[in-house]
This record gives sequence, C-alpha cells and structure tokens, in this order.
Amino acid sequence: MNAIRNIVILTGAGISAESGIDTFRGGGGLWEQHRVEDVATPEAFARDPELVLRFYDMRRAAIQEKQPNPAHFALAKLDREWPGDLLIVTQNVDDLHERAGGRRVLHMHGEHLNAWCTACDERSRWTGPLIDRPACPGCGEAALRPDVVWFGEMPYRMEEIYAAMRDAHLFVSIGTSGAVYPAAGFVRDARSLRARTLELNLERSHGSGWFDETRLGPASELVPAWVEEMLAGNAN
Ligand code: OAD
Repeated sequence: MNAIRNIVILTGAGISAESGIDTFRGGGGLWEQHRVEDVATPEAFARDPELVLRFYDMRRAAIQEKQPNPAHFALAKLDREWPGDLLIVTQNVDDLHERAGGRRVLHMHGEHLNAWCTACDERSRWTGPLIDRPACPGCGEAALRPDVVWFGEMPYRMEEIYAAMRDAHLFVSIGTSGAVYPAAGFVRDARSLRARTLELNLERSHGSGWFDETRLGPASELVPAWVEEMLAGNAN
C-alpha cells in the first residue's frame, strides 16, 4: 500500500547540471566565476546596472540554448500521472521543468525569461536582452530588471509553498546544496510536519543529516528511477 498522496519536490541547480547549465557552488560553479555581491544583489544593480544586466542577458541567452534532461522529463511524467497533490518548487530560474512538460512548477527565485518593471510592477515574458533598456510593454517606462530574486530579497510565493508543505506526506530534495535559506530549511519544516524526506543529489548536501533517506548519483539516473518507483506504488 502506498501511504503517500501529496508530494512537495524541491529542485536546485544540480537537476539542470546535465543540461549544461552551471551550478552555483563547487569547482567551476557560477559563484566562483562571479562575486555574488557584484551581480546578484539590489546594491550591485544600483551601483553598476550595466554589469548586472549584461550578466543576466548572457545567462538568459544561454539557457535558451539548453535542453531538458531525463530528470526534468521524469518529474514532468510524475506531474502528469500522479493522482495526489504535487508541487515542484524550483530554485532554478531556467524553464527546463516547463519545457519538459512540467505544469505544477513554482519558481521561488524567479525566472530568467521574465522581466519585472520596477515602475508599474508588471511582469512580462522576456527572451531578449535588457542591456539596451527597452520599454516596459505595460507602462512604457525603461525600468525593466531581471525577474530574479537577488540576495537580500524575499523569495516568491512562500505562503503557497508552506501551504503545500503542510499537506505533504513526502518531501523530496533534488540537486541542491542546501546552502541558501529559506529553501535549505524546508527539510526540517517537512520533518516537523511529519512528512517523509528523501534527498537525491550527487553528493551529500549541507542538510543531508535531516533526510530519512539519501540517494547519491546524477539526477538523470536517480530521478527517473525514483519516479518509476512512485508510479509503480512501491514507495514507502
Ligand atoms: P548549488 O550550486 O549550491 O548546488 C548544486 C547541488 O547540485 C550540489 O549539491 C551538487 O553536488 C549537486 N549536483 C551537481 N550536479 C548534479 C547532478 N548531475 N545530479 C544531481 N546533483 C547534482 O545550487 P543550488 O542549491 O540550487 O539563488 O543553489 C541555491 C541557490 O543559490 C540558487 O537558487 C541561487 C544560488 O545563489 C539565487 O540566485 C537567489
């Protein structure tokens, strides 16, 4: 019998690594190549908007060249076929979950393919550059910024995430180092709400000790295998 009905899945940069998108930490990670304080804070944007816009323009262009990998496709299959509640909370700003067919996806750190107008507060889908200061399609002001949560800013849609966590029987963390809060604290929240907790990652994350179970390996192998287990009703 499968006692699990409602699932919350947290994903991080590790799930997109095999699609060729750099992770943030570790050898060759994005934060080794760029200082967070130079490109990923509101202060950096105020100080040197050109540098920040150029950095995000490059990232926005790069992700559009990448393709979802078997881990994204497996989660999309689970999303389609799982009869209970399911929410994929992603820290990733790429759109690979959606391009694989995922529907119940929440981007807590924003999205590369959105621009946010600081004049009228509207969000627009945006695939091109922002460096040339284009006008906001809503209000016409040249006040667009990347719709990405920077350090010191509040992640998006936290109430929805906690509402899903309260009902979850299983919390699964995939491809995240557990270094950035509040996402890094979800495993403890899930435990205190008596959900089962499972980690799928290349190596042990910072919060690994909090999980009931950890499986180590590449997401492209671990995630499809876990999804098949879930759909076959073999989860415990
Ligand atoms: P990190 O770069 O901190 O961690 C990526 C994790 O994925 C590491 O634990 C790797 O071991 C693991 N990993 C790498 N390749 C993998 C693979 N093929 N399969 C499975 N796991 C793999 O990225 P995040 O934890 O996502 O925030 O980082 C969290 C936040 O920090 C990001 O959303 C971003 C960043 O600063 C903001 O920009 C606000």
